[in-house]
Amino acid sequence: MERLRFDGKTAIVTGAGGNPSLGRAHALLLGARGANVVVNDIGRDPEARHYPGEASAETVAEEIRAAGGNAIASFDSVTSPEGAEAIIRTAIDAFGRIDILINNAGISIGAPFGEISTRDIQRHIDVNLMGSIWCSRAAWPHMKRQGYGRIVNITSSSMTGFANQVAYAASKGGAWSLTRSLAAEGQPFGIKVNAVSPGGYTRLVISTLEADSPLLAHSQENLPPELSSPAVAFLAHETCPVTGECIDSVGGEVQRCYISRTKGFAERDHSIETIAARWAEVMDEHGAACVALADMDTSGWGLRPYDASLQKEFSR
Ligand SMILES: NC(=O)c1ccc[n+]([C@@H]2O[C@H](COP(=O)([O-])OP(=O)(O)OC[C@H]3O[C@@H](n4cnc5c(N)ncnc54)[C@H](O)[C@@H]3O)[C@@H](O)[C@H]2O)c1
Repeated sequence: MERLRFDGKTAIVTGAGGNPSLGRAHALLLGARGANVVVNDIGRDPEARHYPGEASAETVAEEIRAAGGNAIASFDSVTSPEGAEAIIRTAIDAFGRIDILINNAGISIGAPFGEISTRDIQRHIDVNLMGSIWCSRAAWPHMKRQGYGRIVNITSSSMTGFANQVAYAASKGGAWSLTRSLAAEGQPFGIKVNAVSPGGYTRLVISTLEADSPLLAHSQENLPPELSSPAVAFLAHETCPVTGECIDSVGGEVQRCYISRTKGFAERDHSIETIAARWAEVMDEHGAACVALADMDTSGWGLRPYDASLQKEFSR
């Protein structure tokens, strides 16, 4: 099979300055396959705990250049609209366009829900979810104008529910819903938006787990971050056959993860007691169907035109 390349395409990978890290692995692969890469990372998060060393976007960009590729570093934070605009502008200024956005920057702090601080809950949402929203919004007009774009949001298996990771999981569930909704909206403009749920031995994992954790040892031995990168790159390629999908890619296993709906029952005059009586039908997975992206198409709904004039002070 012909090698899939990214010549002439510009890719941004947020949160890609760490080593070992998933973002670095994605950036190196895209750079090695011909993409112009913007390697973004804030470097040192003053509020991060137990992180080994410092992330360096410049070091990873230099690694790509040393291997013969094109790359430039960006140091802005994804957590504000202004930071996101600056990241996209870096790509436009350096390479003239933005084709691929990998929303990879993320933080994770394990803590019981009753103990995690207000600030740490908010930080998960700000980096993991809002960061992806701000960067996607900043890239959107460019992608729309050129009638082409690929966005890959990095989610996590935690989106299906993890104890002691409530804020993290909620932010990653949000990233999945963001993926679906942007995919539905991007379809007419040639913008494909998918998600990857990765896994790998990274600074995030080292910072989250105790030094003697069996999971940490397993991750170090079996999950080099590079193993998640082909799925990310595949979904970022112009031949990507899908939009609105979530692909799990950990340790060499590549799977589709999707939401399905059971057949349930349909009875207009149903009561609380009907639900109790027919509960087995509601829950029965037999005949359940994947929720299709077509279900998210709102174009025929007659939505009111958006009017931002009432909130001038908040709107762009
Ligand atoms: N490692 C895993 O097993 C695993 C599993 C599931 C999901 N993920 C996700 O993969 C992504 C990459 O994580 P990783 O494991 O490589 O961790 P990592 O800590 O090595 O990478 C995340 C990077 O994001 C950067 N970052 C943090 N806040 C930022 C901000 N405001 N702006 C820009 N950059 C910022 C950090 O400096 C760091 O370098 C994250 O979204 C993470 O949630 C990782």
